[in-house]
Amino acid sequence: MNAVLDLLMGHRSIRKYKKQSVEEEKVKAIIEAAQWSATSGHFQAYTIIRVNDSQKRQAISELAGGQKWVVECPLFLMFCGDLNRSKKNWQGIDPKVLSNTEFFTMATIDAALAAQNAYTAAASLGLGGVYVGGIRNDIKAVSEVLSLPEYVYPLFGICLGYPAENPGLKPRLPMDVIYKVDDYNDSEDSTLIAAYDNEILDYYKKRSDGKIQDTWTTRSGGALMAKTREEVGPALREKGFCLK
Ligand SMILES: Cc1cc2nc3c(=O)[nH]c(=O)nc-3n(C[C@H](O)[C@H](O)[C@H](O)COP(=O)(O)O)c2cc1C
Repeated sequence: MNAVLDLLMGHRSIRKYKKQSVEEEKVKAIIEAAQWSATSGHFQAYTIIRVNDSQKRQAISELAGGQKWVVECPLFLMFCGDLNRSKKNWQGIDPKVLSNTEFFTMATIDAALAAQNAYTAAASLGLGGVYVGGIRNDIKAVSEVLSLPEYVYPLFGICLGYPAENPGLKPRLPMDVIYKVDDYNDSEDSTLIAAYDNEILDYYKKRSDGKIQDTWTTRSGGALMAKTREEVGPALREKGFCLK
């Protein structure tokens, strides 16, 4: 329909990159595009940390479960929810107000919107990349690596670079499962998801030469059971979030 829609509907994560650095003017454009995302109450409650230091990259890669693209990508950006600026600026206000779960939610949404703007901007400049939420395996350790103060928490990284692979599109759920009108009627969902499971089974088989036999249901269910990340809540509370 148009170039923006083509870009959005052509998305697939890229985990292999050419050994070609990303031009600084492109980096600046990506960050500026992130800044132009909508932001709750104009708080702009996020900070993006570009990680160049190879030891820090290595540490983050390991904390994320050994994701080598964190080390290999030319550009790695960490997206953090950030209420530290609010804490510093609201001198007259009880800082405990920031412990309200609403403000955590707001900062998380702000960071995610900025990240997707950055990701899309990067794609429009010929780059590819992948989000790395695996860093939430250990929010505390990642915070130490990046010297994040109280009221700043790491949400995910994004690896970016010029693509050195060309994977196929990973099929999405049927639209009627995720798009409803007027109320939450999920009576047809299980039938639609059963058909989708077959589609995903085919996708994984093709992509892995038959080695992966997962469906969407088994894969996402398995991930939920394996990655409980029970430390996320305590780590966030230690940083001052979600206390009420
Ligand atoms: C917030 C977030 C965190 C993610 N974390 C990881 C990750 O740690 N490692 C990884 O390889 N992919 C990660 N992904 C990529 C997803 O696995 C991927 O987007 C999904 O499987 C759909 O595939 P596609 O992006 O190729 O369409 C993450 C995606 C998002 C949005």
